[in-house]
Amino acid sequence: MVYPHSLTFLCLSSLLLTLVLFPSEITSSSNATKIGQGYRLISIEETSDGALIGFLQLNQKSKIYGPDIPLLRFYAKHETDNRLRVHITDANKQRWEVPYNLIPREQPPPLTQTIGKFRKNPIDQASEYSGSELLFSYISNPFSFAIKRKSNGETLFNTTSTSSDPFSSLVFKDQYIEISTKLPKDASLYGLGENTQPHGIKLYPSDPYTLYTTDISAINLNADLYGSHPMYMDLRNNGGEAYAHAVLLLNSNGMDVFYRGNSLTYKVIGGVLDFYFFSGPSPLNVVDQYTSLIGRPAPMPYWAFGFHQCRWGYHNLSVVEDVVENYKKAQIPLDVIWNDDDHMDGHKDFTLNPNNYPRPKLLNFLNKIHNIGMKYIVIIDPGIGVNSSYGVYQRGLANDVFIKYEGEPFLAQVWPGAVNFPDFLNPKTVSWWADEIRRFHELVPVDGLWIDMNEASNFCSGKCKIPKGKICPSGTGPGWICCLDCKNITKTRWDDPPYKINASGIQAPIGYKTIATSATHYNGVLEYDAHSIYGFSQSVATHKGLLGIEGKRPFILSRSTYVGSGKYAAHWTGDNQGTWENLRYSISTMLNFGIFGVPMVGSDICGFYPQPTEELCNRWIEVGAFYPFSRDHANYYSPRQELYQWDSVAQSARNALGIRYKILPYLYTLNYEAHVSGSPIARPLFFTFPTYTECYDVSTQFLLGSSLLISPVLEQGKTQVKALFPPGSWYSLLDWTHTITSKGGTYVTLDAPLHVVNVHLYQNTILPMQQGGLISKDARTTPFTLIVTFPAGAAEGDAKGTLFIDEDELPEIKLGNGYSTYIDLYASVKQGGVKVWSDVQEGKYALDKGLIIDSISVLGLDGNIGAIASLELDGKPLIGGSDLNVTTYEHVHLEGEG
Ligand code: GLC
Repeated sequence: MVYPHSLTFLCLSSLLLTLVLFPSEITSSSNATKIGQGYRLISIEETSDGALIGFLQLNQKSKIYGPDIPLLRFYAKHETDNRLRVHITDANKQRWEVPYNLIPREQPPPLTQTIGKFRKNPIDQASEYSGSELLFSYISNPFSFAIKRKSNGETLFNTTSTSSDPFSSLVFKDQYIEISTKLPKDASLYGLGENTQPHGIKLYPSDPYTLYTTDISAINLNADLYGSHPMYMDLRNNGGEAYAHAVLLLNSNGMDVFYRGNSLTYKVIGGVLDFYFFSGPSPLNVVDQYTSLIGRPAPMPYWAFGFHQCRWGYHNLSVVEDVVENYKKAQIPLDVIWNDDDHMDGHKDFTLNPNNYPRPKLLNFLNKIHNIGMKYIVIIDPGIGVNSSYGVYQRGLANDVFIKYEGEPFLAQVWPGAVNFPDFLNPKTVSWWADEIRRFHELVPVDGLWIDMNEASNFCSGKCKIPKGKICPSGTGPGWICCLDCKNITKTRWDDPPYKINASGIQAPIGYKTIATSATHYNGVLEYDAHSIYGFSQSVATHKGLLGIEGKRPFILSRSTYVGSGKYAAHWTGDNQGTWENLRYSISTMLNFGIFGVPMVGSDICGFYPQPTEELCNRWIEVGAFYPFSRDHANYYSPRQELYQWDSVAQSARNALGIRYKILPYLYTLNYEAHVSGSPIARPLFFTFPTYTECYDVSTQFLLGSSLLISPVLEQGKTQVKALFPPGSWYSLLDWTHTITSKGGTYVTLDAPLHVVNVHLYQNTILPMQQGGLISKDARTTPFTLIVTFPAGAAEGDAKGTLFIDEDELPEIKLGNGYSTYIDLYASVKQGGVKVWSDVQEGKYALDKGLIIDSISVLGLDGNIGAIASLELDGKPLIGGSDLNVTTYEHVHLEGEG
């Protein structure tokens, strides 16, 4: 949510008021304080399944941030060859953990099974516990541990405080946990989001990275935004060898993570320490290992890779119809048209406004667009309007699905006025929600759902009640301000914890503009603990609901995300601004989400608010056309910014989206690969070039898959762009003869007039392309061209590519169901000529669909090798290859030598 200017003052003043009510004791950026003397290991043993269990006794009490937990249980296990887990909790009492049904994983043995043993085996020396690649070692007093990579002896994580790098030993209190690790000075760290990072994708030593799901817009820099992802990837380069690993702290409580360059400190306000270490060693290995634990990214339907148009303020159906018509007239591709809450009756979920969106007309419209392959998506918010004549609310109440506060459904205010929030941790809520989705789908056959405001966002803070005789307004006007009576704030230790995370980037109280932290979920779970998994749990429930309807592959877009959200939903980066800075920030956030296992991600193209300039919108579509999720969206108060609104933007859109619609088979194959191995669709350059340190910090360019490099213009008034080309040959998609040969890696200044975005294809690649179109349904039936690239001028070389196609609306994306084809494509060039061949798995589907490869373009050939000596596709002409048209290109321009 973004407040219009007139309201900002009111919102800020209510925040200041709350800050006075909750004065902070210790500033969260003060990190020098050493707390306590840590714990000592008093017992340790190996369990029958090869884990380590030990007990840690407190050395000395400290008063700061509440009483210490006297006895801890520590558990370490090499769960796989590349994953080590270290779990530390209260030995005597079950504490809150991320629910095992939401992120299915091994459970450490119950406390009751191990508590009796702790007096055995006193220990006072350091010891080691070895896995295939990771080595765990510990020091018993004060207890600390380190993780080493066995293959190169490098220490990856080390909680031992030394005089040169002093930090507190382990601190473990009910509402405050602190642990630190040393880091090498030259480490390159990525992750710890959701965060708009002004410096780019690489983490910079800064005030804390605060993780706590919050509805403050993406324009807030270095603040806790909509999602919480307590994981980082650490990429190190030792004498030319690159090694990446990742660390996940699976904890959903609010936390500040202080990165100081040579150390990193977690300050967490609850839960347990549940660390997972992933050994890599390549960035792709890391995301594979990470998503094999947290859940593989959801497969997206093919049309989701088409272009999407949305806006808040499509006041009636005719406007929406016009938008679709105008895209067609302007010959700009469009697959999906969206409605924000304008179609709703009084901003209530799952309803239609009878005047502005009359159902018969809407159904007629949907019928028309569905017939040509277009799709329709609408928004829903979690807040259910408190309204006695509203069926969704009544059924929710009857099923007891809402989060409670002092025994009653917790009352908040969002767009519909007074609302209650469903508790998605309650299985009954999930069934009710799925049923509401089913009912709505009978009313309006939507093709996907957009779940917004699910941090959860509340216009009030703390305990609220409706003052007698007052009706809280709904809508987008002054109704935004909380009309509920918020004065009666009960200050519990949850609302006012001893340690203040840097909430909202300003040390706001953690209940600020969200659900009161002492509210309760299913089984008495506190909002304090479960706050940051709210949006995630809504994604899981929504996924279940959509799957249950037509058995189609669900499409869900969620604003709030947590570890594992990618298994269910796509994400957009929330309310950004139509500024050049925000255009730049969108790249880092997108790349981070790829690392978080949420590869289907994009930002509001042209900015959510206020109005972008025409030039900016030109440049934004040239970047946005290559976001995995490509959607133009704008605020209620912004002027219209569909791509056809300016002739120049329409031209850039036709060019950039023209490329997108030709490479849809590549994007869709990346979607498949993301699902099977967690690989991001949009990637930082270091994913393909991990040993090339120059690219570790590049946030102005990105790769799609391993080989397609996007080098956009991100600055006003520029018609050239200085782009980094890692070592090798790069071919321009705009002109295949335009080659850049970068020997050791080089910067090249590229021409980029207003309508041009530079896209280059790397050597040794086979890129499957089609002929494009205005709707992906049509584009995907056009003949294929294979673009084969060799290193420029090489007399010998190989190239590879893959292609996956399937019946994209089946719920699963997989081989072996009779509705998919997977092709490994190979090419080689030798003295005799060029050979292209393939290895096809389940070719029947592609053949049945009549898909044709009708041309091959070979790039980078030496002048002497023009002829195709043999051309085989699976030993015979593949899918219609008899009329195959083969072109070879020689490189004519050579740039960036050396
Ligand atoms: C939130 C969303 C935005 C949406 C608005 C109205 O601010 O982030 O995308 O347009 O709510 O629903």
